[in-house]
Amino acid sequence: MRCLDGKEVSSVIRRQIKEQVQKLDHPPGLGVILVGEDPASQVYVRNKFKACKAVGMKSIEIKLPATICPDDLKAAMTDMNENPDVTAYLVQLPLPRGKGFETQQVMSWIAPYKDADGLTVESLGHLFAGVPKVIPCTPHGVMKILEHYKIPVEGRRAVVIGRSQIVGYPMAHLLTDANATVTICHSRTQNLYSHTREADIVVVAAGQPQFLGKDAFKKGAVVVDVGIHRMDNGQLCGDVDVEDLKGHIEALTPVPGGVGPMTITMLLQNTLKLAQGRG
Ligand SMILES: NC(=O)c1ccc[n+]([C@@H]2O[C@H](COP(=O)([O-])OP(=O)(O)OC[C@H]3O[C@@H](n4cnc5c(N)ncnc54)[C@H](OP(=O)(O)O)[C@@H]3O)[C@@H](O)[C@H]2O)c1
Repeated sequence: MRCLDGKEVSSVIRRQIKEQVQKLDHPPGLGVILVGEDPASQVYVRNKFKACKAVGMKSIEIKLPATICPDDLKAAMTDMNENPDVTAYLVQLPLPRGKGFETQQVMSWIAPYKDADGLTVESLGHLFAGVPKVIPCTPHGVMKILEHYKIPVEGRRAVVIGRSQIVGYPMAHLLTDANATVTICHSRTQNLYSHTREADIVVVAAGQPQFLGKDAFKKGAVVVDVGIHRMDNGQLCGDVDVEDLKGHIEALTPVPGGVGPMTITMLLQNTLKLAQGRG
């Protein structure tokens, strides 16, 4: 089983980003607003800032308590929208539950020309209208992995498990754009395996730890595992059972070290693009 190593692809793309950053008059600045103290989100934000530094970008963080009201979050976002040091920014998701935050509404407070994650209605509209500006980082990163490892996409059958705005829908769109024949599956899909077993490429983004074994895939399939979960023993795992897939599928993205680093890399690329005025 081949390993589709996201760290390797990331290092190639991040080197190119660093070269482009050096050509700019001012280093781009990536802003992050973190609401609450979710440990996983804190780790993600730390990793994003580490990556920024490594390519010569600045980072600007606003930390807000989980108790903050939507109006105060909006005010912090207005600061980010108006701060000339911030080229692009994101609000770390998920937002704390039960505090009155509507994710889509919060996204609408991001100025589209500063949309680092590509998740505003404007960015998604451009993507789905066929004139992409900034593209959601995770699905974009998946496409870069497939491209780097020369996994053929055109004419092949692909299944995307998950239909979130962040991963599933834009993933299905990008695969369709690359001329795959795409099926989207979700929690109401009946007989999931009847779809996944037909697919040459399966992108799993269901958020269900290790829920798919080899019975779910045809022999020789390429599987991209977007899921990321912390197990009781402290280790990370994805949505598939890696041990069970060995010897059955052709290639798999590891967790960690697969889609995760690519998500951050594409965030850097979006920030660079917006700094270059190409967003
Ligand atoms: N590696 C990275 O950089 C990265 C980035 C983003 C997300 N993630 C991870 O990727 C996973 C998905 O993220 P997300 O934000 O897209 O999650 P999400 O918003 O919770 O969406 C999950 C999707 O999976 C579907 N689903 C859930 N259980 C299913 C099942 N048993 N069978 C088929 N479909 C099922 C849901 O269907 P319904 O629509 O019917 O509810 C939903 O569409 C999570 O583990 C997340 O942590 C990783």
